[in-house]
Amino acid sequence: MKEIKAIIQPFMLTRVVTALHKIEGLPGITISDIKGFGKSKGKKSSLSEIPPEARENDNDEGIYEFVPKVKIEIVVLDEIAEQIVDTIQQNAHTGNTGDGKIFVVDVEEVVKIRTNERNKDAV
Ligand SMILES: Nc1ncnc2c1ncn2[C@@H]1O[C@H](COP(=O)(O)OP(=O)(O)OP(=O)(O)O)[C@@H](O)[C@H]1O
Ligand SMILES: [Mg+2]
Repeated sequence: MKEIKAIIQPFMLTRVVTALHKIEGLPGITISDIKGFGKSKGKKSSLSEIPPEARENDNDEGIYEFVPKVKIEIVVLDEIAEQIVDTIQQNAHTGNTGDGKIFVVDVEEVVKIRTNERNKDAV
C-alpha cells in the first residue's frame, strides 16, 4: 500500500479531482488547505507592510510569506499508485514555478474502524 501526498496549486484542485474520479478503484481522497514554500523560500514581504508590533527586528531579515497550496492525500493498493501519480502530475501541471510536488510513501498498516478490517481489505 502506498500513500500519495500531492501538494498542488489551489486553482488546479477541481481539474485534478475531476480526473481522479475517473480512475477505477479510487478508494478516497483527503484534502487540506496548507501553506508552505519551495526552493524560492517564500516571497519576501516589505518591512513597511508589517505592523511595527509584529516586527521581530528592524531589518527585513527573516520576513517570509508562506504560499497557499492544497494537499491531496490518497492511500491505495500498489497496483494503481503509478496511475494516480501520473493523473495528478498531468492535471496539476501549468509549467510555472510553484506547481508543487508529489511524494509517494510506503504504508505499513491500514485499519477500517467500522469493520476492523486490515490492510488491503481496509484501504
Ligand atoms: N521537499 C519538500 N518538502 C516538503 N514540502 C515541500 C517540498 N518541496 C516543496 N514543498 C511544498 O510544495 C509547495 C510547492 O513547491 P514548489 O512547486 O514551489 O517547489 P519548488 O522546488 O520551489 O519548484 P518550482 O521551481 O517549480 O517552484 C511548497 O509551497 C511546499 O509547501
Ligand atoms: Mg517554488
